[in-house]
Amino acid sequence: MADTLPVNPFDFVVFGGTGDLALRKLMPALYYRERDRQMTDCSRIIAVSRTDQSTEQYHAQIAHALEQYIPEADRDAEVWKRFTGRLSYVTLDATKPDGFGELSRYLTEADGRARVFYLATSPSLFGAICRNLDAAGLVNGSCRVVLEKPIGTDRASANRINDEVGAVFPEDRIFRIDHYLGKESVQNLMVLRFGNALFEPLWNSSWVDHVQITVAESIGVEGRADYYDRSGALRDMVQNHFLQLLCLVAMEPPASLHEDMIRNEKIKVLRALLPITAADVKAKTVRGQYRSGAINGKPVPGYPEELGGQSNAETLVAIKAEVENWRWAGVPFYLRTGKRMPTRCSEIIIQFKAVPHSVFGKGAGELQANRLVIRLQPDEGVKLSIMTKVPGPGGLRLRSVPLNLSYAETFKDRYPDAYERLLMDVVRGNPSLFMRRDEVDAAWAWIDSILAAWDEADMKPEPYSAGSWGPINSALLLARDNRRWHDAEF
Ligand code: BG6
Repeated sequence: MADTLPVNPFDFVVFGGTGDLALRKLMPALYYRERDRQMTDCSRIIAVSRTDQSTEQYHAQIAHALEQYIPEADRDAEVWKRFTGRLSYVTLDATKPDGFGELSRYLTEADGRARVFYLATSPSLFGAICRNLDAAGLVNGSCRVVLEKPIGTDRASANRINDEVGAVFPEDRIFRIDHYLGKESVQNLMVLRFGNALFEPLWNSSWVDHVQITVAESIGVEGRADYYDRSGALRDMVQNHFLQLLCLVAMEPPASLHEDMIRNEKIKVLRALLPITAADVKAKTVRGQYRSGAINGKPVPGYPEELGGQSNAETLVAIKAEVENWRWAGVPFYLRTGKRMPTRCSEIIIQFKAVPHSVFGKGAGELQANRLVIRLQPDEGVKLSIMTKVPGPGGLRLRSVPLNLSYAETFKDRYPDAYERLLMDVVRGNPSLFMRRDEVDAAWAWIDSILAAWDEADMKPEPYSAGSWGPINSALLLARDNRRWHDAEF
C-alpha cells in the first residue's frame, strides 16, 4: 500500500452536520483520514446545523455514529482524541443571513489555507447558503464548495441551483460530488481500458454484443423515505452514478488524465445518448416498487408500509440505453438498479460476441462468448471468462472458466473508501473525480426525456416482492432481445 501523503492545512465546514450523510459517511471518512495522519495538526473540521447543541454533545453524537459505521478494530482512543481536538460544532440556520458570526470565528485567514464548504443539505438550500456565506464575507480565494447529489430534480431546477451557486463561486471551485467516482473499482475502469493493450481493440460494436450495469441493493429506503419518495431510483441513482459509470465504459480514450480531458470525453457520451420517448418508453424501461417479502430469510415490509402510504416513486428501474455514435451503434447498454433485491452487488458486464465459427464440433459442448465481469462491490475484482479444454481423456470437452482477479486477495491492506479519497481531493483542489456543470446538464437532459415519457405514457411502477430481482418485465427487457441478466444465469 502506498504511503498516505499529508494534505496542506484546511478548514472543513460541513453544513448538514447532524444529517444522515454526515453521520454515516463524512465523519467516518474524516476519522479514517485522521487515523492515517493525512491531516496536519492545525486543520479544523466544523460541523454546522440548526440543532441547538454544544460541541461536546456533538462529539457524543459522532462517537455513537462511529460505533455504528466503523469496525471496532479500527477505533482507537488516541485517534479519537486527536479527531475531537479539531472537530467543533456551530448551531446555525444557514438559510438565514444573520448568525454567521460564530462560524467566522472558527475560520482561519492567516495561512491562506483551503476553506471547504461541504453542503450536505437539501439542494434547495444550496443557493441560500452560498449567498449567506458571501454576504458574511466568508468566501475567499481559497474556498471550494462541495455539492451533494442530486442537484435538482430535473434539468431546469439543476440549472437554477447551478446558477445560484455559480453567482458566488467560480466553476473551478465547485466540486459536484458523485461518490461512485471515488470508488477504487470505478477508478480502475480507466486503467483496465487504457492501461492494457488487450481490451481496447475489442471495445466497440464489432466485438461487444452488449453491456450490463447493475447496482443491486438489499437495503430498503432506510429512514430516507421522505427524500427518496420525491426522487425515486431514476433520479437517485441513474442520473448520477449510472451515467458516470456508463461514460467511463463508453468514452473515447482521453489524451491525458487532466480533468478537462476526461470530462470532455464523458460529455460526448452523454450527448450521444438516444432520448427515450413516450412511444418506446414501455419497451425500453421498467419501473418497479417493492412490496413485502424476505431477504436472507428475514421478512421485510413493502415500500408503502415503510412510507406510510401509497406512492408512485420507483424503487427499481431498468433501462435499455443506446449510445448513438460510431463506436457503440447497435450495442445496448442495459442499466438496472433496485432496492430490496436479494443481495448487494454492483457490477458491469461486457458481453463480447461469439466467435464466428466453431471448429470443435457439437460433441465438445457449446462455445460461450467471452465475458468480462467488473465487480464494483462488494468483493471488488475483475473476471474474464475464457473457453478452456477440460483436461483428461474422454474426447474434447470445452468449458467456460474465469480468469479471476480479486482485490482482497491481491491487495491485502485496507484502502480508503470513496468519500475519504474525494474529501482529500477537495482539500487539494483536484476536481478530476467531480462533475462539471455541463455533465450534470447533459445527464439531466436524458433523464428528463424518460421522466416526460413516463408521464405521457402514464407508466406507473409495477410491484415486485422484496428479495426478488424485480418485476418480470425487467427480465423481459433483455429476453425480448434474446439476452439475460448476468445474475439470472447462476
Ligand atoms: C446514494 C443513494 O447516492 O448511493 C442511495 O442516494 C444508495 O440511495 C447509495 O443507497 C448507494 O451507494 P453505495 O456506495 O452503497 O453503492
